[in-house]
Amino acid sequence: MIIQPKIQGVVARSCHPFGCQAAIFEQISKSLSQQSSSGTLPKRVLVLGASSGFGLASRIALAFGPAKAATIGVSFERGVSEKGIGSAGWYNNIFFHDAAEKAGLISTNIVGDAFSAETHEQVAKSIEQDLGGQVDLVVYSLATGIRPNPETGEFWRSAIRPVGETVEGYSVNFEKNSLDKVSLPPATKQEIDETVKVMGGEDWLSWMQFLSERNLLSKGCETVAYSYIGPEYTHAIYHKGTLGFAKTHLHNTRDDINTLLKNIEGTANIAVCKALVTKASVFIPGLTPYLLALYRVMKAKGLHEGCIEQMNRLFYGKWQDAADRDAEGLIRIDDWELRDDIQLQANALLAEMTPDNFTKIGDYEGVLGEFLQLNGFEFNSVDYTQEVDIEKLKALRP
Ligand code: NAI
Ligand code: NA
Repeated sequence: MIIQPKIQGVVARSCHPFGCQAAIFEQISKSLSQQSSSGTLPKRVLVLGASSGFGLASRIALAFGPAKAATIGVSFERGVSEKGIGSAGWYNNIFFHDAAEKAGLISTNIVGDAFSAETHEQVAKSIEQDLGGQVDLVVYSLATGIRPNPETGEFWRSAIRPVGETVEGYSVNFEKNSLDKVSLPPATKQEIDETVKVMGGEDWLSWMQFLSERNLLSKGCETVAYSYIGPEYTHAIYHKGTLGFAKTHLHNTRDDINTLLKNIEGTANIAVCKALVTKASVFIPGLTPYLLALYRVMKAKGLHEGCIEQMNRLFYGKWQDAADRDAEGLIRIDDWELRDDIQLQANALLAEMTPDNFTKIGDYEGVLGEFLQLNGFEFNSVDYTQEVDIEKLKALRP
């Protein structure tokens, strides 16, 4: 079978396994060349949301960078079925594990619903068996639209909406190569509450409680969750919208986790990341024009970073310097994005951008290219005219 990109709106319906492998190799090489830093580095790491985006990049940075960490990665992905080839994250897990094993690194993939009791038990068992009983760092990088209510089994559903106002904006459509007008009505109270349930800090805290109760956290154990704040232009749809409510809840959860970890001298951290093309972020209506402008400006200044550059700079830079925090104690790897010169130029581009000129004003080629690469397409090292043997793919296990 020859695998080609299949895009529906902003969703990829196919992925190329060997392109996913190329993406893993590319990220690994960027972490291998990372300089060793002076502070203590985590040796045993649990990554929740490990198969793509920031979670995958965290795992690669910590395993293949100077930390040389043993990792357990939890994700929700699927392999070959009658529905298709499976998800990019499925192959990311497989090829990460393969590369880790060849490098002599311990790595375990757990594919399942992170909200389920069963997955919690699998993680506990794996920490005992594979990591000698405790972890030094828990990376919380889940991004999802639904979370089951543990009491009722019914689902909470997030809604990406402004709060208190209607927002008019544009969203990109990768299938039609168009910029489409979107009008987003304000969220209802229930939509705000459910988004906080899904993307706030409740599940982060409950994971830490679970691991703490089972004595699976080492002395001085740390945890980190990822957040976004962004500039004025994105505030109506993000920071002041439902997602912002969820992120504020996530930030406040840090205090609860710090209290929980006090007796083991552990710490909870929030790293505020830069806006990037991921499977999750292209879903945010109204955000893409900003991504197009931001990519153009940051690339022109030589400051563009992908997930792996961000995570290398986090774990081998900012992380080590406890004084390098903002007034609220947040780690800011969105510092370059929010520089005045970057924002001034991005705003100037946004003021000019229309559905007719967005491919020229913004970095459409770059944004689309990254989107395709997330799904294993557009790698020079892969020959996309080659047949892929589905039976062989089926035999690959994470
Ligand atoms: P992503 O979609 O690339 O990764 C999400 C991960 O969560 C995947 O590994 C997926 O398998 C896993 N996952 C989802 N539901 C699951 C479930 N029920 N059980 C187990 N695993 C599950 O998303 P991305 O963008 O890396 O997001 C991670 C975090 O980073 C989020 O908190 C997001 O808000 C934050 N962030 C993202 C930014 C961006 O521009 N992409 C910017 C700043 C923060
Ligand atoms: Na992730």
